[in-house]
Amino acid sequence: MKAGERLDFAAELAAAAAAADGELDRLLPVVEGPEGRLFEVMRYAALGPGKRMRPFLVLNSARLFNVPSQHALRVAAAIEMVHSYSLVHDDLPAMDDDDLRRGRPTAHIQFDEATAILAGDALLTLAFEVLADPATHPNATIRAELVGELARGAGGRGMVGGQMLDLLAAHRDFDLGGIARLERLKTGALIGFSCGAGAILANANEASRAALYAYAHDLGFAFQIADDLLDAEGSEAQTGKRVGKDAAAGKATVVSLLGVEEARQHAQMLARQAVSHLDLFREMADPLRAAAHFVVDRRA
Ligand code: IPE
Ligand code: IPE
Ligand code: MG
Ligand code: MG
Ligand code: MG
Repeated sequence: MKAGERLDFAAELAAAAAAADGELDRLLPVVEGPEGRLFEVMRYAALGPGKRMRPFLVLNSARLFNVPSQHALRVAAAIEMVHSYSLVHDDLPAMDDDDLRRGRPTAHIQFDEATAILAGDALLTLAFEVLADPATHPNATIRAELVGELARGAGGRGMVGGQMLDLLAAHRDFDLGGIARLERLKTGALIGFSCGAGAILANANEASRAALYAYAHDLGFAFQIADDLLDAEGSEAQTGKRVGKDAAAGKATVVSLLGVEEARQHAQMLARQAVSHLDLFREMADPLRAAAHFVVDRRA
């Protein structure tokens, strides 16, 4: 987009998705031989028709600093690999036990459970292989920072820790603070990495980094509240996944605690708050501003 043009968010998101898919396709080649099935499941999971919201955030945080697109694209592909792995494992019988994802059978239904687990493992590890490769950035310190930040976001103090809390949320009472922590970890942590990645690639100053992480802190929570709202009142046709699962599992969410209307207002408040952190980037951050509104208004 050029300065002064009105932002067409849907077109921007579609462009980011197409670019990320091209990179994923290159990084996940079809493999012949007995282990070919593993790579087939990896491609099925990572290249399925998702929104590519995290790649969008990487690419647009990187654009704030004019990071070369070939570097940002590799990071965008890496975060989508980790996200896709998290969905494959989230859908397993031992977790949410889902049979529909992105409008298609989940990986363990389409293939088998063991291969789905392995494909998730391999997507997670491939993401780090991609980040560690000099093609991602010529500066090894920056590559190490990307690796460290993704490890933190994906691990026990990030997404996986949030997934643990999420399992407990079916059996324990969580207050709003507890649910906020759970949702910020399980969903916010990878969104935090996505938004911070551009600043890391550019070795940006502390103020820019802090602004992006503050934006992501509100955006990630808003994103998960919107997901919980879609589970409560969305449709399978639009979301491409089963709905009504959280209530059926007796899961504590912002929606179960506050009700649909108040949860929606809370998400909208968070989106406005997210946008308020972006002032220092002026109009360069318009795609990120639009993303915050999209996240809470989305129907899928
Ligand atoms: C779904 O994420 C799981 C959450 C972390 C809320 P998305 O809503 O980004 O799913 P896709 O990638 O578009 O399928
Ligand atoms: C999943 O949250 C978050 C992850 C870390 C994968 P949900 O379990 O609510 O995501 P969906 O609704 O299955 O996409
Ligand atoms: Mg889950
Ligand atoms: Mg789930
Ligand atoms: Mg959900």
